[in-house]
Amino acid sequence: MSSINDPAVLFQGTTLEGPEIDRVTRTLGDLTDVFSDKDALAAMAADQKVYDVACYFPVADGTTAGLFFGITYIYPGKVGTEYFMTRGHFHQLRDRGEFYHCLEGEGMLILMDEDRQTRAEKMYPGSLHYIPGHTAHRTANTGNSMLVFSAFWPSDAGHDYQSISEKGFSGILVEQNGEPVLASK
Ligand code: F6R
Ligand code: ZN
Repeated sequence: MSSINDPAVLFQGTTLEGPEIDRVTRTLGDLTDVFSDKDALAAMAADQKVYDVACYFPVADGTTAGLFFGITYIYPGKVGTEYFMTRGHFHQLRDRGEFYHCLEGEGMLILMDEDRQTRAEKMYPGSLHYIPGHTAHRTANTGNSMLVFSAFWPSDAGHDYQSISEKGFSGILVEQNGEPVLASK
């Protein structure tokens, strides 16, 4: 017996559509431990959207040897001089890697190893980024329009947000003279 089916999900342009898509939005109010300038943050609306994520999880979280797929949409903006960015995480299973592929906009992938050495890679349409294991990652929108990228990661990777929430990254991405600069914290 054989069969021909429609795909479960459509990924067209920058949109991910299908009944099994999980969507989450992060606002400034969700990210109070993330941005450095607390006075600038307090002066902004807590319901200001910072990023949306749409994910396709075809297998249960934690499944060995499965894959997950997601699209992240980061709004343009800054808190003080720091660009809008994602929370950032290590993978719970530290050796799990990930690919990011930029679809639209301009930004920076900020990477920090377990010795807290931080570096950044420029993101622009078409840029492909391999995030090795043992490396915390977050992305910042450095442009005036949405930054959109896709991500592919192992379904058993998990996310450790706690260590970033406690210690942050050693470098923060700020605007200086109109340019993004990785400054030490
Ligand atoms: C998955 C991954 C991305 C991020 C997304 C939001 O491992 O790295 O899909 O989850 O960019 O960032 P966080 O998860 O740090 O809020
Ligand atoms: Zn990740």
